[in-house]
Amino acid sequence: MKRPFRPLFSLLLLIVIVSTLSSRTVFRQSFSYLQLDNHVSLEPSVRESNSTLLQFAAIDVNEAHDKKEIEQLLEGNFGSSGRYRSFSSWQHSNYLNIRTRASTGRLSFQLRSPKYYKIWLEFRKSLRDWSRNKWFQPDIMLDLIDLVKRPIDRHSGLPDSNGRYASCAVVGNSGILLKTEYGELIDSHDIVIRLNNARTEGFQRNVGSKTNISFVNSHILHRCARREGCFCHPYGEKVPMVMYICQPVHLIDYTVCNASHKAPLLITDARFDILCARMVKYYSAKRFAEETGKSLDEWALVHDANQFHYSSGMQAIMLALGTCDRVSIFGFGKSAQATHHYHTNQKAELHLHDYEAEYAFYHDLVERPQVIPFLPDKFKVPSVVIHN
Ligand SMILES: *[C@@H]1O[C@H](CO)[C@@H](O)[C@H](O)[C@H]1NC(C)=O
Ligand SMILES: *[C@@H]1O[C@H](CO)[C@@H](O)[C@H](O)[C@H]1NC(C)=O
Ligand SMILES: *[C@@H]1O[C@H](CO)[C@@H](O)[C@H](O)[C@H]1NC(C)=O
Repeated sequence: MKRPFRPLFSLLLLIVIVSTLSSRTVFRQSFSYLQLDNHVSLEPSVRESNSTLLQFAAIDVNEAHDKKEIEQLLEGNFGSSGRYRSFSSWQHSNYLNIRTRASTGRLSFQLRSPKYYKIWLEFRKSLRDWSRNKWFQPDIMLDLIDLVKRPIDRHSGLPDSNGRYASCAVVGNSGILLKTEYGELIDSHDIVIRLNNARTEGFQRNVGSKTNISFVNSHILHRCARREGCFCHPYGEKVPMVMYICQPVHLIDYTVCNASHKAPLLITDARFDILCARMVKYYSAKRFAEETGKSLDEWALVHDANQFHYSSGMQAIMLALGTCDRVSIFGFGKSAQATHHYHTNQKAELHLHDYEAEYAFYHDLVERPQVIPFLPDKFKVPSVVIHN
């Protein structure tokens, strides 16, 4: 009985031995591959060299506050919203004609009335979807084509493609634009991104006239939301808008306005916001430490840590980095003779931004992208040119 099974048994044994050996080799190979990979990716990483700065930049002092605010909003309690007093202005806007009792600041009753119930539900859904992504995931840089470019291309009737735009101009609003006549050069780019609804009429020679993406912060839409049909289109109503959320309560403005917009109104992914916040805080802290020689603890005294924020322009540039092969930057910078904005007389800049730190980031983009922290290794920084 045993004899016929012996060859079979030997064969099985052989198979087991061979497969064990080969899986070991595979294991060893993949392990050494990993080591090699680590070695290769870490070596040129001047990028990750200063862990003190990286850790400091990773602290979000508003995290607990924001979480609580979002929870309260989801419960219909708007009382504590408006860290920047926007709730009162939101209250005064009359597009929903909502009256709240000043003593409690609760909107829940009114929002749950049949008339507003649909808005309320949609608002909650948007808030949930948006806040679910509030975590640090730098790979979001690799998703910008899918999340932003493709919806915009679909709207423009362009063929679906996961490629990048060949060239993009990001037009900041600095008064330095008035010293040059970059209008034609700006318009020669495939895609022109403009910021916060700065007007072009009367300035075409300096800033150009074409707009493909209107990039705004949610305060802008919040103001537009009071207008008939949420009119927010100085560049034409067919121009897609991309907006980052400054305060979660602004998702109401989004809910109300999204329906009436003829072009896409896209909200930036919260992972993208968090990446931008970290990068700018890193550059700001680095600059502070290098220039003052003081400890990072004192950074918060100079830059109000609760209010500190990247500028819209910085995030628009990040968007261009993720969706374009060549990025040209115009109107970022200052000079003593120039106004803060080309289109207003505003002299002072906002204190919640650290523009110098952001300029340092842009210069790294041009000169030594390999030192820029937080960007995923898989992400290739496109070629960047600063026109000043
Ligand atoms: C950009 O906008 C211009 C002017 O509106 C338009 O002619 C052009 O087709 C747009 N480009 C893309 C790639 O959508
Ligand atoms: C916003 O409007 C667009 C177009 O009408 C629609 O496809 C999209 O689902 C809306 N977004 C939300 C969150 O309701
Ligand atoms: C990291 O940066 C901080 C702040 O600029 C500086 O004080 C510290 O010496 C740096 N550490 C290293 C290892 O370079």
